[in-house]
Amino acid sequence: MKQQLSIGIPIVASLAAFVLVLLALLAGSRPGFMEDFDIVTFNTSALGKNLLSTATDDNKPTSTTDGLCDGLGGAFGRLCSSATAEAETIESEIVSAIDDIGNAIADKLADTLGIHEFYSLHVLAICEGSFTPNATAPSPGRNVTNCTMGLSDGYNVSAIFDHQLQIGPFKLTLADLGFTDDIQSAFDTLNQVTKAFAIILIISVALTGLALVASLASLFLIPRKERAALLSNVVISLVALLMLIASALVVTIGSCIVVSKVNDLGDDVGLSATAGYRYTIFTWVAVGLMIVAFAYWLRQFLAFRRGSRSGANGHRKPARDSEESSHYYGETREKRNKSSVMGRNLFTRARRT
Ligand SMILES: *[C@@H]1O[C@H](CO)[C@@H](O)[C@H](O)[C@H]1NC(C)=O
Ligand SMILES: *[C@@H]1O[C@H](CO)[C@@H](O)[C@H](O)[C@H]1NC(C)=O
Ligand SMILES: *[C@@H]1O[C@H](CO)[C@@H](O)[C@H](O)[C@H]1NC(C)=O
Ligand SMILES: *[C@@H]1O[C@H](CO)[C@@H](O)[C@H](O)[C@H]1NC(C)=O
Repeated sequence: MKQQLSIGIPIVASLAAFVLVLLALLAGSRPGFMEDFDIVTFNTSALGKNLLSTATDDNKPTSTTDGLCDGLGGAFGRLCSSATAEAETIESEIVSAIDDIGNAIADKLADTLGIHEFYSLHVLAICEGSFTPNATAPSPGRNVTNCTMGLSDGYNVSAIFDHQLQIGPFKLTLADLGFTDDIQSAFDTLNQVTKAFAIILIISVALTGLALVASLASLFLIPRKERAALLSNVVISLVALLMLIASALVVTIGSCIVVSKVNDLGDDVGLSATAGYRYTIFTWVAVGLMIVAFAYWLRQFLAFRRGSRSGANGHRKPARDSEESSHYYGETREKRNKSSVMGRNLFTRARRT
């Protein structure tokens, strides 16, 4: 009876693992859905701060608008020297925007440039939005405004920045903000790793679901074909477990590397990144649950094999051992009866007749 109940262990464990990986796959796929379970979040609320300091530093010595262009480098310089009426308007807009920003750089810069304050990377989507109440508040909330599907549109986060800057009020490029090739290559790596991770995770969801189905099916199969049922559960749960470990390793190591690289290189341009620890915990809990399911099936399978081998040996043993071996046989058979699931008694009796 206890044994019959114990088959609930792998069923519950693989059901829970399946739900976890399914949620891990879907997290962030719609705006606001499990937004806290991000893989990596880029904080762009201070992106372009170096632009700002060049502009204000160069701005100071010349007080008249006429001389302003000479002192300006980079994007502002280019805008200035195009010397059209439109450029002049933009230029004065920039100057007044910068004056407005004042000390609250992190809260207004992104808005001024036409980008969002954060971009969060999820398995299926890249979401963007602003911090609430503001970017500098301690542990701020997130207001997601938009998500871009990754598998179809790619996971090139910097392409999104680039696009939004170009349609923004000042038509800037990433190069204007001081993006180097090194930063771009970090984003390109992220693009590839995320694509691979999404595929691995989709396979993990399928295999974990298969493990769940197989353990449910064993309720009916064990009484009839115990060896095949146990063996297939061992194999399926092992493959699902390996896949889950692969995805957990990819996401844990990958997000660590990206975050440290981006924080290293992005410091100058006001870009920072954080890894979503909740997501990492999520995936490792799924691994833990699958270990439970796999360990259960392995144990059952080994017990079954031990049982049938000693059973076979008992028959073949020479006569002088017969008493001892039949005792041994009886004992293991008792164990087997205990360790098998419903219908086992019927099965052995049928085999003996
Ligand atoms: C985002 O970056 C800004 C500027 O570096 C910083 O002040 C702010 O605390 C960061 N916010 C979050 C939520 O990481
Ligand atoms: C950001 O929010 C915090 C907490 O609500 C507040 O104390 C702070 O003044 C705000 N900062 C700005 C620049 O609005
Ligand atoms: C979230 O952002 C949208 C659009 O930017 C804004 O209309 C809305 O008020 C924001 N919600 C909160 C809670 O800040
Ligand atoms: C990502 O976007 C950036 C900026 O648009 C572009 O320079 C880069 O080549 C893109 N990378 C990939 C792998 O598409």
